[in-house]
Order: sequence, then structure tokens, then C-alpha cells
Amino acid sequence: MRLLLKGGRVIDPSRDMDDQMDVLVEKGKIAKLGKNISDDSQGVGAKGQKGDLEIINVQDLLVVPGLIDIHCHLREPGFEYKETIQTGSEAAAAGGFTSVACMANTDPVHDNRSVTEFIRQKVAQSDLINVFPVASISVGLQGQILTEFIDLKNAGAVAFSDDGKPVMNSALMRRALEYAYSIGMPVISHCEDANLSNEGVMNESFVATELGLSGIPSVAEEMMVARDILLAQYTRTAVHLAHVSTAGSVQIIRDAKNRGVKVTAETAPHYFTLTEEFLRDYNPNMKVNPPLRSSEDREALKQGLRDGTIDVIATDHAPHARTDKEVEFEYAASGIVGLETSLPLSLRLVEEGVVTWKQLIAMMSFNPARILKIPKGTLKAGADADITVVDLNKKWTVSRDTLHSRSKNTPFDGWEMKGKAVLTVVGGKIKHREL
Ligand code: DOR
Ligand code: ZN
Repeated sequence: MRLLLKGGRVIDPSRDMDDQMDVLVEKGKIAKLGKNISDDSQGVGAKGQKGDLEIINVQDLLVVPGLIDIHCHLREPGFEYKETIQTGSEAAAAGGFTSVACMANTDPVHDNRSVTEFIRQKVAQSDLINVFPVASISVGLQGQILTEFIDLKNAGAVAFSDDGKPVMNSALMRRALEYAYSIGMPVISHCEDANLSNEGVMNESFVATELGLSGIPSVAEEMMVARDILLAQYTRTAVHLAHVSTAGSVQIIRDAKNRGVKVTAETAPHYFTLTEEFLRDYNPNMKVNPPLRSSEDREALKQGLRDGTIDVIATDHAPHARTDKEVEFEYAASGIVGLETSLPLSLRLVEEGVVTWKQLIAMMSFNPARILKIPKGTLKAGADADITVVDLNKKWTVSRDTLHSRSKNTPFDGWEMKGKAVLTVVGGKIKHREL
């Protein structure tokens, strides 16, 4: 089966390309890009079909390297009532993602190779998108004992993270950075000083006081952003910081990058789209950790995205069932589903003039591939044919009922969106199609 995408606007930051091009896919790989690639196959089949070649007209659409989510929660094993690898992969494909990295806070925790193998088996069965498992830093996410890094790497884990929980013990974090770096594996840090965040449920601010909710101060995040940067600097290793949400964090990361520290960072669409003001009606689907912050923080994140301080837009897709969410705000689980809304919300950054097209696609594909050290995020000839086609003009309304994810905890229910992934190709095969 071959595939020819004709006449699209191809944006490929890996080679600084933004041009109208045809893309030919053969044997699961990008065969070539070029103007007016002619079809040399024999015989004409059904509409758009010539022999084993399917031709799809993608004029007026964007053709980009398949989107990569460096940070999501697929909940399997253990929380299949929230999401499974199958339903999460369906949501990912519908949102234009061809690869995702899934976090380790499952049950059992992904802290040993039998869980890596289980995840890989489920991914193979689902045969939809590429799922790269992230193993935990510490056994049971308990922050006490390091997991078997080399064994987990050999089993197929691509990174280490205790995401969902901070690694409070700085000595353990130091060892994690050193061991992981020595075997070429990234560490993804959930930056939160648990003593400072304490039992907080939203951003610490006047709004929290008005709402009578306990606060999580921005310094709870910034303290650990600074610590991890100091540890990476001291040990000459690298660290990737998850879900950055405050202006202070952006500034600390910017300074560290200027000093040459090997730090990379991500934020998520809800942090550059929403603020704590959206909590005024106590909607538990606005509850997330780190919490939605102030409008000043939101502006600083956009500046960080614009100037390259923040390298990646991740979803932090965190599905939760109704029973987890439809309780008093204090008791509701933290998390927002994001795989199906990330792209249109991120496209707004280009429309607002915050980032360029190439920057945006780099932050959603090339940069996460580079950080995870996976050979993806490019449309170069010979690369895996992971491709996302985007219709920038497609208008649609988010509805929790039509999400592919098993959980419906979106804060964007009813929001008007412009732009959608209309074709998701993974390894040369069409996995989602709306055109
Ligand atoms: O809001 C969150 N939800 N933040 C996290 O760090 C973990 C995640 C989850 O697993 O639900
Ligand atoms: Zn997370």
C-alpha cells in the first residue's frame, strides 16, 4: 500500500521547510517529497486509487510530521475505568497524535519490566499509534529506592518520571539524573514541593481566598524547578521539566538555559488558555495539578513559548471518571483530558502571533522527539511515515459526549474550535480520517 498526499502545505521544522509539496509514502516510510510527484503505478482502481496507490488531495491543508505528546496518562494497567491504551490511542489519533509517551502512575506502578512488557503488548494489540512507556524513577512512586533503570530501558521504556508525585528526596533525584544520563535516558520531573503545596487545591491567590479554597503557591513549583536545574547543572546531566505553570518557573528556566544548563521544559494548553478565574463556579474539570494560575502567569508562559524557553507543548492528558470528579471540589481528582483539544488550542498561538508555524510544529513534534531520543518528528525521506494533516478552517464544537477518550473531564466542553486533525497516518497506515 502506497499513499500520495497531493498539494498540501508541508511544514517540517526538522529541515526548515514550509512549502507546497506532495508527499509519497511507501512501505511505511516517507519515500519522497517534491513538487508534482507523478504517479508511475499501473492501472486505475476506485476513486483516488491507482493500483496499490491511494491518492489523497490535501490542497489547502497543512501536512506536518505526526504530532508527539511527551506526557499523557493512559491509565492501563489498573485504572481501565478511566482510560485504556486502546481508548487513549483512539483519542490520540483523533487529535492528530501519532506518538505519545505514557506516564508510570498506573496500578501496579510502571516500576518494573513486566509492566513495560504488558504495556507494549497492549500497544501491539491496539495497533493504532506509537506508545512509548515512561517508567517510574522510584519503586512504587514512593521516592525511596530507584527502579532498575537499565532493565527498564532494555524492556522498552524511553524515559523515567514519577509524574503525579514529586521526587522530594534531592539525593535520590541526583542519583536518578546521574544514572539516567549515563545510559542516555531522559528524566522528566514533576516539580512540586509537597510541603509547600500541602493540601492545596488551587492556585494560592486572592481568588482562592474569595472561593474559600486552600492554595498551592507558585513557589511550590519554582522551588523544585530551581532544585532540578541546580542538580542538572552540578552533575552536568539533563532534565526535562513537566507541566510548567508559573511566570517564576519560566524565568528560572530562561536564566538556566542562558547559563548553558541542559534543561528542557513543557507546558500544556490549559495553562496558556485558562486561568484560575475559570474556577469561580467550582467546576471540578478545571482542577488540575499544578493548578491553573493567574493571567500574568499565562502571559509569561506564552512569552516562554515564543522565545524558546519552553520547548514542548504536552497534553498532560489525565483522564478521570465521573465518580472521581463529581464530588466537592476539594475531593475531586486533579486532571484534564487533552489529547483531542490540544491541537486546536495550540493553533490559537499562531493566530494570536505568539509563535510561528514552524515553532508550533517543532514544539508538538520535533522537540518532543529530540528530548525522548526517538527517531521521529520529521518528514525526511526514509523516516517512519507518521504524518498529521490539519484543516485550519474546520470549525467544530467540543462536546464531552463525542470525545474518543473513555473519560470526559474536559474544561472545554461547548467551546468553539477552529482547526482539526483530519488525517492521522502512522507508519504509512491511515489511523484516523475525516476527509
Ligand atoms: O492533574 C494532574 N493529574 N496532575 C498530575 O501530576 C497527575 C495527573 C493524574 O495522573 O491524574
Ligand atoms: Zn502528568
